[in-house]
Amino acid sequence: MYRFWNISLMICFSVSVMFVGSEDTSELPPPKNLNFIWETPFRISLTWEKPEDLDSDNCKVNYTVHVHKSQDCSFKEGAKSFKVSHLGLKVNVSNENGLCISVSTNSETCGHSRPTNIILPPPQVRLVTDRSYEYSHSRMKCTWKPGDEVQDLSFYYWLPVSESIIKCIPDETIKTGGCVIHNEQLKDMMEIYYLFNGTHNGIPVNNTFEGERPAQCVKLNKPQLSIHRVGQDLHFETHGSDLDEFYNECYDYQYTYSKCNQNFSPIDKKKYDVQYDPACKYRASVKVLLSTDCGSGESDPSDEVEYGEDNDPNLPALLAIILIPLIVSCGLVVSLVLLRRHKDIIFPKIPTPTIFFKDMFNNNNNNVINTEDQRSPANVIMPMPTEDIAECRLSLLPDTPVELSTNNLLPEPK
Ligand SMILES: *[C@@H]1O[C@H](CO)[C@@H](O)[C@H](O)[C@H]1NC(C)=O
Ligand SMILES: *[C@@H]1O[C@H](CO)[C@@H](O)[C@H](O)[C@H]1NC(C)=O
Ligand SMILES: *[C@@H]1O[C@H](CO)[C@@H](O)[C@H](O)[C@H]1NC(C)=O
Ligand SMILES: *[C@@H]1O[C@H](CO)[C@@H](O)[C@H](O)[C@H]1NC(C)=O
Repeated sequence: MYRFWNISLMICFSVSVMFVGSEDTSELPPPKNLNFIWETPFRISLTWEKPEDLDSDNCKVNYTVHVHKSQDCSFKEGAKSFKVSHLGLKVNVSNENGLCISVSTNSETCGHSRPTNIILPPPQVRLVTDRSYEYSHSRMKCTWKPGDEVQDLSFYYWLPVSESIIKCIPDETIKTGGCVIHNEQLKDMMEIYYLFNGTHNGIPVNNTFEGERPAQCVKLNKPQLSIHRVGQDLHFETHGSDLDEFYNECYDYQYTYSKCNQNFSPIDKKKYDVQYDPACKYRASVKVLLSTDCGSGESDPSDEVEYGEDNDPNLPALLAIILIPLIVSCGLVVSLVLLRRHKDIIFPKIPTPTIFFKDMFNNNNNNVINTEDQRSPANVIMPMPTEDIAECRLSLLPDTPVELSTNNLLPEPK
């Protein structure tokens, strides 16, 4: 008995190996009679039947369901996958881009089947375009532009935590089309769906959309930035009116500032310090971001704030190089002009040297005349020195033979 079981397992194994090698031929049979109905605009209910010819005693099977948000069954983005053991499944999904639904049989021991597919086309009528969503403080502002012509367009939303689909009363102030959803549960919702419906050429039409979760479309108010100088630092501080909905750690602050035409954009906290350079003008603004741990979203940038003035750091040196010589030479010119103009006062008129000396000589002569009573200036100024020298020699050297020369030469020193 044990032996038989072992052999059958081996057969099953080798068969499944063969299946892997050659794709379509010898795999498990696919599910039968795959069907769907829309239970609500957002929920499709699928049913199928067990494949025929399945050796259910030997191969316990599950069914793998893939829901692709496109008519292309290989389209991966946003595809949903389920593995179930029963013969049906309800899936929350939208119809905006059409759907490819595929169900296949698979077994851990006996391999898998090729899928059975249903392809649903997207709605033929596009009721709206350019949809956008902005979430803040339990409100979701939804805006859109009208698409194909439609009567009595209505807008609904659905949160999968409740059964009811809720109608949103349009906001007339949003010109192209819009509505503000008020709901306390929005912030924590992982899923939200939207429905637009109306009648086009007398036929009811609906478009459904799966929205991003509200925390992923956060719109923050425009903040304000203030700049203060404290000692050697500049303090940047952000003031926002709506930064209380998430934890403090959820908010990041992207500062964008220029300093002497250099640009910086650090991401920091509500307060941010930079070292202050007095030679530079600072221009700064700030944008608040919701960190990816908490969701996604940002504010518009604040108004730009300025601090300080641009001063060329080389300016003082430049001024010194240009100004000091300029001032000095101006001073020189001015003093020269002044000197010239007022020279009579500054330097009283000096008698011409010839007259001065003449006067001086005259005075001397007068003195000489008074003392020695002589009239000839020649006698006063020029007593004949040769005669004196000759006399000296005669008196100083009485014993030596004197060679008196008429030329008055000095004797050789001994
Ligand atoms: C929505 O429109 C599709 C056709 O695009 C239709 O099959 C479906 O029944 C409609 N659903 C609702 C809830 O009106
Ligand atoms: C898939 O099938 C196996 C048995 O082959 C079973 O044990 C398992 O629970 C099933 N998984 C699911 C998701 O149903
Ligand atoms: C689909 O919506 C229902 C509520 O109607 C919910 O209980 C269920 O978890 C949702 N399914 C998925 C896969 O999100
Ligand atoms: C739009 O959908 C809502 C909710 O499913 C439904 O009550 C309403 O009758 C629909 N309107 C049209 C015009 O299809």
